[in-house]
Amino acid sequence: MATLEAIAYVRGSLRVLDQLRLPLETTYVDVPTCEACWRCIKDMRVRGAPAIAIAAALALATELERTRGRFRASAEVAAFARERFDYMYTSRPTAVNLGEARGRIQKVAMTLAETCDVTETIDGVIEACEAMLEEDVRSCREIGRRGAEALLASVGAKDGEKIKVMTCCNTGSLATAGYGTALGVIRALWERGRLERAYCLETRPYNQGSRLTAYELVYEKIPGTLICDNMAAALMARGDVDAIVVGADRVAANGDFANKIGTYSLAVNAKHHGVPMFTAAPVTTLDPETATGADIHIEERPADEVTHSLGKRVAAEGIDVWNPSFDVTPAALLSGIITESGVIEKNVKGFFPVSEFVANVK
Ligand code: MRU
Repeated sequence: MATLEAIAYVRGSLRVLDQLRLPLETTYVDVPTCEACWRCIKDMRVRGAPAIAIAAALALATELERTRGRFRASAEVAAFARERFDYMYTSRPTAVNLGEARGRIQKVAMTLAETCDVTETIDGVIEACEAMLEEDVRSCREIGRRGAEALLASVGAKDGEKIKVMTCCNTGSLATAGYGTALGVIRALWERGRLERAYCLETRPYNQGSRLTAYELVYEKIPGTLICDNMAAALMARGDVDAIVVGADRVAANGDFANKIGTYSLAVNAKHHGVPMFTAAPVTTLDPETATGADIHIEERPADEVTHSLGKRVAAEGIDVWNPSFDVTPAALLSGIITESGVIEKNVKGFFPVSEFVANVK
């Protein structure tokens, strides 16, 4: 079966799957420039922390390839990479991956420009951007493997026993370069014959759960059940949820993490019902520079995402709207942070040693 591709790239051409149109239409949008990429990220045609970082890097690679002829000196290439990535970074503020990619690619460009000619600098920057695609798929597979083991251990599953797992938002192939993070863990459980059922939350207002995660589960023939966000606690109370795994947009130094709005209520409910809850994310989502969740900038989105559905008004005219795209889940509610380099668990003092972990694996 062909895998779902949020990002279709060959050198000089970048297209992103228009996630605003899924699941009704499968349409790719051309992204020839960084400006076009900024717009796609802002409008959430491409979304998900790793996917927006990779799309931005590949937009830079594509614009560089298409306009090679205009650069006269390697310093101009480095300046272009700096300016274009700074600009794309203004598209969405919460996910740290975009900032991490910006820092990484700008550094590559600056270093190359010190010793290489124009062509070598352009080639080197393009290669560094392209490497992010493969790197992300590798990381996701490893997150899946480690996460499957962690979830099974957390519920004390016996040999061969299958478990029921809940998730929210979309963290699958559509949110990454492929395979996914939290949905990658669910995928890995399924591949190992250890998943009884995945429950996905609708995830209002953008409906990443019903439009995207449900689509991926059906596409991969993984047994899945869609529920509305306000049904999660009732399902836990029935004893139908063994474990929860969600993604992350930024994990602070103390383990507090920002993720799709609704994650926090899921975590509070999980604690009440004694259900282990994990976040799964690549190391690039860990941000030791941000001390706690209170320091994370939470994006607020337009009111019409709440008042309208498929372009049609569904809320009373004149009502005020608050539409934060993410919330912060305190580390205290979390069982573990699953990354490609290992699962971070609480230390003897009850804290997640995020900074120490990053220092050891980077
Ligand atoms: O607003 P979105 O759809 O970009 O939000 C996505 C999430 O919150 C995901 O859980 C997170 O980015 C991880 S995606 C692997």
